[in-house]
Amino acid sequence: MAKKAKDPSQKGLLRAHSPHDNFRAPFDDDWRGSDSDSDSDLDATDFLDESAASESKSAFLAALGPRRQWSILRPLAGRSRCCIILLSTIVGIWILLAAGGAVIYKKYQDEPVYGQSPPWYPTPRGGIASTWAASYEKAAKMVSRMTLAEKVNVTTGTGWQMGYAVGTNAPAIHVGFPQLQLQDGPLGIRFADNITAFPAGITVGATWNRQLMYARGKAHAIEAHQKGINVLLGPCVGPLGRMPAGGRNWEGFGADPYLQGIAGAETVKGIQSEGVMATIKHFVANEQEHFRQPWEWGLPHAISANIDDRVLHELYAWPFGDAVKAGVASVMCSYNQVNNSYACGNSKLLNGILKDELGFQGFVMSDWLAQRSGVGTALAGLDMTMPGDGLKWANGDSLWGPQLTRAVLNGSVPLERLNDMVTRIVASWYQLGQDDEKKFPREPPNFSSWTNDRFGVASYGSPSPQEKIEVNKFIDVQANHSIIAREVAAEGTVLLKNENVLPLSREGLPEAKLMARRDNIYRAIGKRHEGKFKVGIFGEDAGPGEGPNKCKDRGCNQGTLGSGWGSGAVEFPYLVAPIAALRDQFDGSKVDLHEYLSNKPPVGGAERAILEDLELCIVFVNADSGEGFTKWDDVSGDRPNLDIQKGGDALVQRVASQCGSGTGDVIVVIHAVGPVLVEKWIELPNVKAVLFAHLPGQESGNALADILFGDVNPSGHLPFTIGKSLEDYGKGAKVLYTPNGVVPQQDFSEGLFIDYRFFDQFGKTPRFEFGFGLSYTTFEYSNLQVVPQKTKSELPARRPNPAAQPPTYSSDIPHASEALFPADFRPLKKYVYPYLNSTDDIVPGQYPYPDGYDTVQPLSGAGGEEGGNPDLWEVYVSVTVEVANNGAYDGAVVPQLYLSLPLARQWIARPVRALRGFHKVYVRKGETQTVTFDLTRRDLSYWDVERQNWVMLVDDEFKFAVGESSRDLRVFGTW
Ligand code: BGC
Repeated sequence: MAKKAKDPSQKGLLRAHSPHDNFRAPFDDDWRGSDSDSDSDLDATDFLDESAASESKSAFLAALGPRRQWSILRPLAGRSRCCIILLSTIVGIWILLAAGGAVIYKKYQDEPVYGQSPPWYPTPRGGIASTWAASYEKAAKMVSRMTLAEKVNVTTGTGWQMGYAVGTNAPAIHVGFPQLQLQDGPLGIRFADNITAFPAGITVGATWNRQLMYARGKAHAIEAHQKGINVLLGPCVGPLGRMPAGGRNWEGFGADPYLQGIAGAETVKGIQSEGVMATIKHFVANEQEHFRQPWEWGLPHAISANIDDRVLHELYAWPFGDAVKAGVASVMCSYNQVNNSYACGNSKLLNGILKDELGFQGFVMSDWLAQRSGVGTALAGLDMTMPGDGLKWANGDSLWGPQLTRAVLNGSVPLERLNDMVTRIVASWYQLGQDDEKKFPREPPNFSSWTNDRFGVASYGSPSPQEKIEVNKFIDVQANHSIIAREVAAEGTVLLKNENVLPLSREGLPEAKLMARRDNIYRAIGKRHEGKFKVGIFGEDAGPGEGPNKCKDRGCNQGTLGSGWGSGAVEFPYLVAPIAALRDQFDGSKVDLHEYLSNKPPVGGAERAILEDLELCIVFVNADSGEGFTKWDDVSGDRPNLDIQKGGDALVQRVASQCGSGTGDVIVVIHAVGPVLVEKWIELPNVKAVLFAHLPGQESGNALADILFGDVNPSGHLPFTIGKSLEDYGKGAKVLYTPNGVVPQQDFSEGLFIDYRFFDQFGKTPRFEFGFGLSYTTFEYSNLQVVPQKTKSELPARRPNPAAQPPTYSSDIPHASEALFPADFRPLKKYVYPYLNSTDDIVPGQYPYPDGYDTVQPLSGAGGEEGGNPDLWEVYVSVTVEVANNGAYDGAVVPQLYLSLPLARQWIARPVRALRGFHKVYVRKGETQTVTFDLTRRDLSYWDVERQNWVMLVDDEFKFAVGESSRDLRVFGTW
């Protein structure tokens, strides 16, 4: 008989704020009262309040009698008719919209939802992996001594702004388990001072450099550790980049699961090498910002990403598999629904795929307010709720906390489940060595996310009076991390076009070109080139604007673009604007630098003559996006299109026509969150070079100068496709901007064909393909060798028996007294505690559990260890190639291996080719290096939905192609 869990989520859904409404502005003392002024702030209660107000107004007017009403309303008569017309129009539109909404509501209410996520219960207990056995043993000892309240403490956030970091759980004091400090985000320490603003994930992806991926993660964690952070809320591998305009794609590493997987895993390893827990996020399919969570977009429910099993495995869940294999301590489940079940309450995803199949041993944490039910999420595999508040933002009314205590006492959440949640969290803490008090002193962070003052209160979110203490110690943790930041930014810069113009000399053009130009001028006008070489720098994006931290959470596009916006951004300690670096580096005795740091430079008068005289023009343009809680211009998180923003196209066109009256050389530099369309100017004859510098972080200008002047030979490659139009990416690549139902439905019906896979499948010609990137030198590929390592076979070896047994604990329900507020306890208002005022209303009993709870799930053949069946990670074949630098400069090259599956069984959909290997190697000119790609069983398999396993096609040949992009393939082989 299934037991039913009482679900506290059934409480009212009234006022809900955007989760970041109360985020302080950097260096804004008045952060507390300031609600976001974004459109999304209008919510259910705003409307309720208004109608309540208007009801009482009519009652008031009725009571006055007609004469007095008239005298009060009289001033209206003097207003122009136009106001009344305007008002009627607004009311009319409102009625129309409401009627439309009602129709949609009706339509979708009546229709069964598309797809359903199958049940997968109960949650596999942690502690089966060889790699975690020792930590689980220690954790078991500690957890067995915890009281019920302490266990609940460990699983539940204390509420928004109740600690110093963006997330804190509560300690289990008497057994020595500290409060954990959780902080964003993927590119630096958010809301902190004296930290490094590293380049964003997309820039890291564009480096294709595994060592740098690791090094950036490590440096990030050193800073986190020194600031007192236990858990970093990064890296981000979801969104994957299904939609090129998706608002948060830039937090991840690029539109390919393999690239995301390697970059994610290297980052995790780097972070965790310093003992800081990494969080891989957002699991899964949070591909767009619109409708990502209830109420933020005015709808009561989040969007449902409807994905089939194979596509989930081969694209969206793939990089999470790499992170789990790399030992990641935490996984953050996402806001959206997947197949109409909230990701943080989706038992198939959390229990089935993550914990059974991928053998995840750490803990699943909710995105901030992504938990939408209490008992349901516990049973579905959630282990920690963040920030602790429940359905509404910052109200202290948790779905867990006291509710979890109650649920355990009445039996609606099995005690075993609570024990597993806590054990997973404590084991992760041991796994990272955080029990070593010398390394991780039991102290709060030395900075507060909520004020820049030295003194403040510990729980800003609580209105209860508190003593002021020193909350900001301003510890400088930057060390020499600017070096890594600069290296990543330079190596993540992609050279898209270069017609003999780069690298520049510090005197202007490259040496040879400079001489030729001077000769030409001599020939043309009969006199030697006199005076300085004339260079113009154009565009707002070249300059500092009003400083990098002008807008809260970097939520606007002004000045040079160093990062996107939202929780994935940090306060820049500084930002080297391109203009500063160029001023510094051009030789002032030889070069005359003219600066036009605006997208509308002057055209007439004296300026005209200067423009006509320019010999080299560098134009800066950009495109920004970010997290959905902030809107800038017409960018509501997701971009509305792939256009360059702020009139950048027109700027390039104008500069091209006016720079030296159309004869000057033009270099375009793009800073962007993702692909942008360059069609309007890319083929203009004097647009000689284009650099795509992504989001370079604080070292922007320096890194760019490294590339422009050839101190660093460009070796970045595109981590996505640049198409000629958004349409070229296919239907599935379009963000759903208007809801198509009360629960917006987004069918991932393009299946495996996203980004380059779509272009290849449907014969579209991109402007610049995935993996593309030029160098100042050239490389030649030869001698591809295929070296089999293991015999092909369809299925992986049998799932191994667990290497260890999960800990077991007493199954006696704790005594209710463990749940009561301790005597003389003075609670802070809104703070989430595990305690109850009384246990009188607790009725233990047989509560029905969700459908399918009692169905025994077969263990996945793809599982068995951390990261899944170990056989999936075995190398089955290696491919080696020789790469020779036959050009004029030393430089790094990125040989990329693309795999085409065997032709047999043609009915199985498959991409024309998929990335399955890359390395970055430095090759001196004239030298040759051998590069080896090791392909694992997983790399060589597809996900078979019938057999529920990774299957290798053995009855025909695998095809390998190695080259410098997904279309520039130079050497081939088969196996
Ligand atoms: C974001 C997460 C972030 C969290 C905490 C959420 O809105 O989606 O990525 O880690 O906030 O700031």
